[in-house]
Amino acid sequence: MAVVLVLVVVLQKKWFSAFTISSPFRLAVIGSGPAGFYTAYRVLKDHQNTLIDMYEALPVPFGLVRYGVAPDHPEVKNVQNRFEEVAQDSRYTFIGNVKYGEDLTLKDLKSQYDAIVFSYGAGQEKSLGVRNENEPIKNICSARAFVGWYNGLPQYRDLELDLTCTDTAVVIGQGNVALDVGRILLTSVVELSKTDITEYALEALRKSQIRNVIIVGRRGPLQVSFTAKELREMMNLPNTKFHTDSELVKNELFTNVDIISKDRPLKRLMQILEKGMSNSIGYKSWTLKFLRSPDEFIAHGNNDPFRAKYVRAVNFHINRLEGPLEKRVAVPTGKMEELETGLVLKSVGYRSIPLEGLPFDEDKGIVPNYKGKILDSDSNEQPGLYVAGWLKRGPQGVIATTMYDAFETAEVIVSDIRQNKPMISKDTINTAKQGSKAIIPILHQRGIRTISYEDWKKIEEKENEAGKAKHKPREKFARVEDVMHVLDT
Ligand SMILES: Cc1cc2nc3c(=O)[nH]c(=O)nc-3n(C[C@H](O)[C@H](O)[C@H](O)COP(=O)(O)OP(=O)(O)OC[C@H]3O[C@@H](n4cnc5c(N)ncnc54)[C@H](O)[C@@H]3O)c2cc1C
Ligand SMILES: NC(=O)c1ccc[n+]([C@@H]2O[C@H](COP(=O)([O-])OP(=O)(O)OC[C@H]3O[C@@H](n4cnc5c(N)ncnc54)[C@H](OP(=O)(O)O)[C@@H]3O)[C@@H](O)[C@H]2O)c1
Repeated sequence: MAVVLVLVVVLQKKWFSAFTISSPFRLAVIGSGPAGFYTAYRVLKDHQNTLIDMYEALPVPFGLVRYGVAPDHPEVKNVQNRFEEVAQDSRYTFIGNVKYGEDLTLKDLKSQYDAIVFSYGAGQEKSLGVRNENEPIKNICSARAFVGWYNGLPQYRDLELDLTCTDTAVVIGQGNVALDVGRILLTSVVELSKTDITEYALEALRKSQIRNVIIVGRRGPLQVSFTAKELREMMNLPNTKFHTDSELVKNELFTNVDIISKDRPLKRLMQILEKGMSNSIGYKSWTLKFLRSPDEFIAHGNNDPFRAKYVRAVNFHINRLEGPLEKRVAVPTGKMEELETGLVLKSVGYRSIPLEGLPFDEDKGIVPNYKGKILDSDSNEQPGLYVAGWLKRGPQGVIATTMYDAFETAEVIVSDIRQNKPMISKDTINTAKQGSKAIIPILHQRGIRTISYEDWKKIEEKENEAGKAKHKPREKFARVEDVMHVLDT
């Protein structure tokens, strides 16, 4: 009898350990931009026994690769090929049209996953906090909205902008997004029509009267945050002359020559800037204006029947610079300058938002973390909760930066698994976690129509077909209803 009992216990133990060894590690990823995909790629590569479910608020994947990267930069979108490889892995599942925090809660996810990676990016824009910013003045919007509009982001499909009422646009901020929007406004529609820019944006740009784009920064030429390739593209725009405060640029280059010579990217940037200053032929123009901080947006008065409520000008503080070169700050001189314009694009950066159940550092605009492991308000590690991408380190950096950052998070996850660190504990019923198998029916019960990767491929095929007819790489469906319609036909 005793022998039989021992045998039963041994067998049970063996079965149990075999079960636990073969039981896969279930990871949920929230957001399907580069951070989500690169984290998934790395975890799948380094930990075979993993199943990943990626939840995306939009019906379609790829985040800013689809809705941010400029249409005239198609080569950047090649990263989608790597994401495609991840999606083809049998251990990966895409679940689109599911918004974490609205359709899905932390409690839902905790009940079905061992760990969760939050990589939902930076879904808002920074505000400037200047006078009249929140007044309903027409033709003022964020660069985020403008970029989303021309790239087919459903939220901005119906953005109201009139590009026919003015010949001058002011862009506030001097980052790469500012150059993207300036370049799109000045590029010929013949060139743009070969890209995947949306047809309605192309139509509006065809009628556009904008000939001059003024890109305004609060600090000086050495503090711009755009990069050499993007500046060169602006300098090479056909029929477009370049203006700037040449005296200021020359003076800054002269006084800081030693520092510039030791900083290769800065040196390259300044060479392009200096060379571009001789670029003075063209019926269009773009300008880099330095040392200006916006103070107020000014609208046309009601006495102008055609332009009432449209922006007429921006009033700027004129600044001087203070502090050591690496920490230069803009200080108002007390002088002001008004710039006449009929279109204002605010391009001062993006912002992440706090979502249900997650700690959030309002000052930094990130989920607090150590190398991607989420920390609570007392800096304690949260078992099984991770963060990657712009939500982890703020809205800074190109796709390559986001990739390395996502790899760091993935390495921490895999190392935590190997070290048997605590993950999300089982619920009280202690049933095996099922991942999306259990979550998708719950979402359907809540009336949410989930989109699979196969659905996306069908949508993509239709977009490519529609693009072919117009000699474009694709024509994006910019309304969620249109995407759903494709799946119903
Ligand atoms: C306008 C613009 C142009 C750029 N151009 C370039 C370029 O040319 N080259 C380059 O290298 N880099 C470029 N970048 C930078 C690059 O896009 C970022 O480094 C990268 O996209 C950040 O990745 P992410 O995954 O953190 O965020 P995102 O790409 O924003 O992905 C976040 C994803 O999460 C989803 N999401 C949001 N909320 C939820 C929710 N509640 N539930 C579920 N899902 C959610 C979003 O829909 C999105 O799909 C550009 C950035 C911008 C803003
Ligand atoms: N082609 C590409 O590779 C590409 C294209 C687009 C975007 N991106 C990347 O995406 C990231 C985000 O780009 P971004 O252009 O949105 O952000 P960014 O690089 O941070 O630039 C923001 C700009 O806004 C200014 N600014 C911020 N707050 C301001 C305020 N209150 N008043 C006036 N000016 C203010 C900043 O000036 P200060 O420096 O003075 O703060 C800076 O000039 C960057 O890393 C960028 O390189 C890459």
